[in-house]
Amino acid sequence: MWIDALRAALPEEELVLSSDLTDGQAVDAVDVALVRGIDPGDLGRFRRLQLIHCLWAGVDRLIADPAVPTDVPLARTVDPAMADQMAATALAHVLDICLLHHDYREKQTRASWAPRHAKPMASKTVAILGFGSLGRRCAEYVAMTGATVIGLRSNRTTAADHAPWTTTVNLEDAVAVADVVVNLLPLTNETTGVLNTALFARFRQGAALINLGRGNHVVESDLLAALAEGKLRRVVLDVFAQEPLPEDHPYWRHPQVTVTPHVAAETDPTTAAIVIAANIRAFRAGRTDAITGLVDRARGY
Ligand code: NAP
Ligand code: GLV
Repeated sequence: MWIDALRAALPEEELVLSSDLTDGQAVDAVDVALVRGIDPGDLGRFRRLQLIHCLWAGVDRLIADPAVPTDVPLARTVDPAMADQMAATALAHVLDICLLHHDYREKQTRASWAPRHAKPMASKTVAILGFGSLGRRCAEYVAMTGATVIGLRSNRTTAADHAPWTTTVNLEDAVAVADVVVNLLPLTNETTGVLNTALFARFRQGAALINLGRGNHVVESDLLAALAEGKLRRVVLDVFAQEPLPEDHPYWRHPQVTVTPHVAAETDPTTAAIVIAANIRAFRAGRTDAITGLVDRARGY
């Protein structure tokens, strides 16, 4: 799918699968790497790279890979269609939690007719941790329900950059007001393990967490403890420290946890290829400044 979509979007480029490149001269002719699902070290044999383009939105694996040269521009995929998909996923989970549908699914297994009062969406607050290309689109979808949205940004941007949304740089403040916390932070040195006991202590009693970012944002034992204590009432997890999630992992059978297999927003080759093609053309034209999703290595996203 990728090759077809990229060939259609980039007819002027010669596209080769890295697995087909065995000859050293051919490897050295490669100046742009389009990277998806590689093993650490795989990129090391390409010595003449001038641009690395990740076909995913998150570049944490590439940043952690010592074989990925740090002096070559690295771009990630910023695709509005992916943002729509992510926003639809976030909204589906927010509504499932707030309208208690998860509860009725469970009750149906027992033929139990037991209506409960779901508070109006307008009374709910949703915190979106990570207010970037995906988080902001989620905000638009969630706000359609009447819920209040608060976004967490870094201190590298200003509140004005995110207007008209309400944003904060204070993680504790963001989670403290939320009925539902949606995590869409990038995984960096600063954000690894950020969803831990100390932060859960700042959550509202009985709040819900939806993690669509990366598994390593969560300290798993702390999350299970927060569920056991009732601090968290409902948790949705799409991403995990170990993927696939091992069969014996407690998340699978936890009655308050919903597990999805890292599918919150897959990159669609058809739409992403158009964005990637535009970036490669900008690069060929010497317009690195026009590349969307250029990663700041120091920030890690
Ligand atoms: P992005 O555009 O780079 O946005 C990142 C946001 O996080 C920005 O708002 C940034 O703040 C904020 N941020 C970064 N570090 C922070 C910190 N230490 N404290 C507070 N805020 C911080 O990224 P994106 O495209 O929205 O993607 C976000 C992540 O989603 C990806 O990195 C990936 O891990 C995950 N993802 C998951 C799936 C899935 O299927 N589950 C699919 C795609 C992506 P500023 O605005 O101030 O820069
Ligand atoms: C998926 O997780 C992505 O980063 O695109």
